[in-house]
Amino acid sequence: MTKFNTDDIAILENIILSRRDVRGNRFINKEVEEEDIEKILFAGVNAPSVGFSQPWEFVIIKSNEIRNKIKESFFEENEKAKKQFETSKANEYSQLKLEGITESALNIAVFYKPSDRPVLGQTSMEEAGVYSVVCAIQNMWLMARALNIGLGWVSILDPEKVKTILKAPADRQLIGYLCLGHVDLFYESPELEKLKWEKRKRLEQVVINNSY
Ligand SMILES: Cc1cc2nc3c(=O)[nH]c(=O)nc-3n(C[C@H](O)[C@H](O)[C@H](O)COP(=O)(O)O)c2cc1C
Repeated sequence: MTKFNTDDIAILENIILSRRDVRGNRFINKEVEEEDIEKILFAGVNAPSVGFSQPWEFVIIKSNEIRNKIKESFFEENEKAKKQFETSKANEYSQLKLEGITESALNIAVFYKPSDRPVLGQTSMEEAGVYSVVCAIQNMWLMARALNIGLGWVSILDPEKVKTILKAPADRQLIGYLCLGHVDLFYESPELEKLKWEKRKRLEQVVINNSY
C-alpha cells in the first residue's frame, strides 16, 4: 500500500492550486508529445466511474478542417451568449477570450456512452454516468498541469453540431470539449478573477453543517 507523506500532499495541493483553464491567448505553437497525450488519457481512464462502467470515449482532434468547423459553432453560440448579459456586462463579455480551439495543439472531445444494461449504482441517479465522465476530465486537467501542459474546457458549443461534425453515434453525449497545448505562462489565479468577472467564494459561503 502506498503511503503518502507531507511532501506528496504539498505537491498535490500545488497541482490543484496551479491548474488553470487555458484559452487561445496563452497557447504557443508547439506540438504536444504523443507520450504526454497518452499520460493525460491514462489519467482520464483511471478516474472513478459509477459501477466501474467507464462510460467515456475520447476523440482526439488535430485536423484543422474539423477544428475550424467546431470553431464556427463556437462563434454562433457565443453571439447568442452575448445577448444574455446586460448591456454593461455584454461589452465586458465581448472582450473575453473563451476558447483556444485553433490556437491549441490538439482538441479532445470527451463523450458519455450510455450503457445498454443496468449499471450498479446508476439505477436511481442516471446522471452518475455523466458525472463519471466529468471525473475523467478533471483527472486529465490535473495531469496536463503536472506535465506543464495547458488545458481549456470549451462549453460554448452546440453539442449536436459537434456530434455531427465528429460523426458521433446518436446515443453519445458530448460532456467536454478540451483544448490542449503548451503555454507561455499559467496564471496564478483564474483569468475571470483577474479580470474581475467573478470572485472566489470563501469556504464559509459554501459549507453547511448538518442541514440547510
Ligand atoms: C464545465 C466547465 C465548462 C467551462 N466552459 C468554459 C468555456 O466555454 N469557456 C471558457 O473560457 N472557460 C470555460 N470553463 C473554464 C472556467 O471559466 C474556469 O474553470 C473558471 O473561470 C476558473 O478558472 P480556472 O479553471 O483557471 O481555475 C469551463 C469550466 C468548466 C468546469
